[in-house]
Amino acid sequence: MTIFASFLLLALICLAVAFPTYDSIAGLSEREINEYVARNGVAAIPNPPLPLPKGQDGLKLVNDPAHPFIAAGPNDIRGPCPALNTLASHGYLPRNGVVRPDQIVTAVMEGLNLGNDFAKFLCYQAFLMNGNPLTNLMSIRMKTRGTGPDPPKPALIGGLGQHGTFEAVFNEDLFQGFISTSTKFGFNGTYDVNAAAELRNQRLQNSIQTNPQLVFTSPRILSAYSEAVFPTIFFVDGRLNNCQLAIDAARHFFDFEMMPTDFHRQPAPVNFTMVDPLVSEIFNKHPFAPGVNHGKKNFVLQPQTPPLSNFCGIYEDIVIHVVPGQYPKPTGVLRDALNKNLGFFYGAVRAEHNCTQVFPYGRD
Ligand code: HEM
Ligand SMILES: *[C@@H]1O[C@H](CO)[C@@H](O)[C@H](O)[C@H]1NC(C)=O
Ligand SMILES: *[C@@H]1O[C@H](CO)[C@@H](O)[C@H](O)[C@H]1NC(C)=O
Ligand SMILES: *[C@@H]1O[C@H](CO)[C@@H](O)[C@H](O)[C@H]1NC(C)=O
Repeated sequence: MTIFASFLLLALICLAVAFPTYDSIAGLSEREINEYVARNGVAAIPNPPLPLPKGQDGLKLVNDPAHPFIAAGPNDIRGPCPALNTLASHGYLPRNGVVRPDQIVTAVMEGLNLGNDFAKFLCYQAFLMNGNPLTNLMSIRMKTRGTGPDPPKPALIGGLGQHGTFEAVFNEDLFQGFISTSTKFGFNGTYDVNAAAELRNQRLQNSIQTNPQLVFTSPRILSAYSEAVFPTIFFVDGRLNNCQLAIDAARHFFDFEMMPTDFHRQPAPVNFTMVDPLVSEIFNKHPFAPGVNHGKKNFVLQPQTPPLSNFCGIYEDIVIHVVPGQYPKPTGVLRDALNKNLGFFYGAVRAEHNCTQVFPYGRD
């Protein structure tokens, strides 16, 4: 290994701790480090970031001069998640959209004040399903060479856009539905929990009618219902913090991938304790059982998949079925990397839910 490579490895570890932003750091950016790792197929896997220190975890201007909005360039990847797109466009994440899981955790904590456990849960779940465990890189949209050489199939390494029905970066028709549902059901025309419940149900009913291959089972159910409530929390200015998202602010995040001018993040780290009741609330307005479409309008229930109310069941389903579906018998460094990420994932699950850890690839 060259001296240059060792320097980069050292820089990788130090930078993750020392620099919260990813633009031109004394000539060597986090993005350049990621690109180096992708070319060489080797990666150190940093531990998950710690919570923001006390005293630095409160209300804060986050659309600040250190994080200017710069629209994505032709080679920058943007995907299905409006939060991650926006964080990339403000430099909280590498602007090219090829990112490490620890960078996502740091970005969502600093930029939107997700609690540490909550950030790790979302991030390591997504990484285990869509990222490259060998290079420790993930695309926030589609498959790209930017994540380096793939592990063997059936691993997909497709990026965040590979599940679900994501097609265009922004769909104005869907956004018009968002506006009209908010006008009809939300307080003062905002996207609030009532609007979220109606819109989520409309999307499900619409998919049952039109998508012959709809799969609405674990873990998709949990992400669908979580994503429905997130904007009522994280896209609302922390000084207001009333769970009522104005349409103008929504358009900034969803369409422009931009924080509104003067945007302040949540006033305290947001964890499962706050999100879980909202998820239950929108579910209880339109309860349903998990299932799959066998052709349009033919929704067949899947009683063996854990329902939304069974958080630990969903954790186990991801670890026992979803991840081994892509990595049936990993060995060597691949197994080590997967076990490490599974451990990080369980660490996030354990913090606020009393689930038992499962080990698809043995302990150690
Ligand atoms: C670690 C953090 C996160 C990860 C890894 C993540 C990942 C994802 C993924 C994979 C999707 C697409 C799901 C699909 O296939 O349909 C998605 C959608 C979405 N995410 Fe995130 N997300 C994160 C944090 C957030 C946060 C903090 C928000 C706050 C508002 C958010 C809001 C949304 C919304 C609203 C959608 C649905 C977009 C639409 O239907 O147009 N996400 N996210
Ligand atoms: C309703 O929304 C308008 C802006 O669309 C705002 O000026 C007004 O203060 C809001 N009213 C309440 C009661 O929140
Ligand atoms: C979750 O957040 C609430 C409100 O900020 C806080 O009181 C609680 O201690 C947090 N729980 C954990 C496990 O961090
Ligand atoms: C957590 O689960 C264990 C084993 O299932 C049980 O013994 C323990 O009482 C539970 N703790 C809490 C706080 O629920």
